[in-house]
Amino acid sequence: MAADTPVTVPGLMQRKRRGEKIVALTAYDFPTARLVDQSGADVTLVGDSLGMEELGFDTTLPVTLEIMLHHLKAVRRGTQRALLLADMPFLSYQVNPDEAVRNAGRLLQEGGAGAVKLEGGAAIAPTIRRLTDAGIPVCSHLGFTPQSVHQIGVRVQGRDEAGAQRLRGDARAVQEAGAFAVVLELLPPSLAAEITADLAIPTIGIGAGRHCDGQVLVTSDLLGLRGGETPFRHVRQYARIGDDILRALRAYGEDVRGGNFPE
Ligand code: KIV
Repeated sequence: MAADTPVTVPGLMQRKRRGEKIVALTAYDFPTARLVDQSGADVTLVGDSLGMEELGFDTTLPVTLEIMLHHLKAVRRGTQRALLLADMPFLSYQVNPDEAVRNAGRLLQEGGAGAVKLEGGAAIAPTIRRLTDAGIPVCSHLGFTPQSVHQIGVRVQGRDEAGAQRLRGDARAVQEAGAFAVVLELLPPSLAAEITADLAIPTIGIGAGRHCDGQVLVTSDLLGLRGGETPFRHVRQYARIGDDILRALRAYGEDVRGGNFPE
């Protein structure tokens, strides 16, 4: 595929058949979206992690559809090539399938998303079916599902056989309901590898080992935007942008106070 050919849902599914890894990154604003797109990432995810990373909330739960649309539109303007994947916020799809179709439709129609992502397995499969029947591509999100943080806590999922069995069933159920991909978050690598081998659709891992069909990271984590070392074991930090920014801001302050700026 040419470097500037837009990435499509069928194109991503083809990657799995060809054994080509999928690269996904988050973006919540225009400048980051441009950089992510220029880096050659295949998928730009406007994740509801923006609640924590961009807006300073403790969880993803306060992110509303209107907040998501606001950020999605900015990311759309910075994205030329990558498939633009938008998270469906908490309560935008759980209440009933009709509301889910209406809300996902807004993410595509007003926000310019190419696909939506929602959390859950067999229980949400009928909603995935309704969305895909309406022509809305759906990526599922299994394992640690942040919108259920108050129910499940932050921990690796599927460690015991019952949990693993449930996740295998969930993965099958979302594929059968028409999902085009599945994000696997915080799973034992052996279970993620097993699910990846079992499914015809691609798996995109985060904290789920190297055998998934692709990987996604929160861009601010890999850039070290918070400063210092990342607290997350699954993240590889490729830069220390937070430390660089702090150094630059302090240098500016010193220059102003010392009469060295402007010259
Ligand atoms: O919201 C998000 O950024 C996500 C990724 C962690 C997969 O869902």
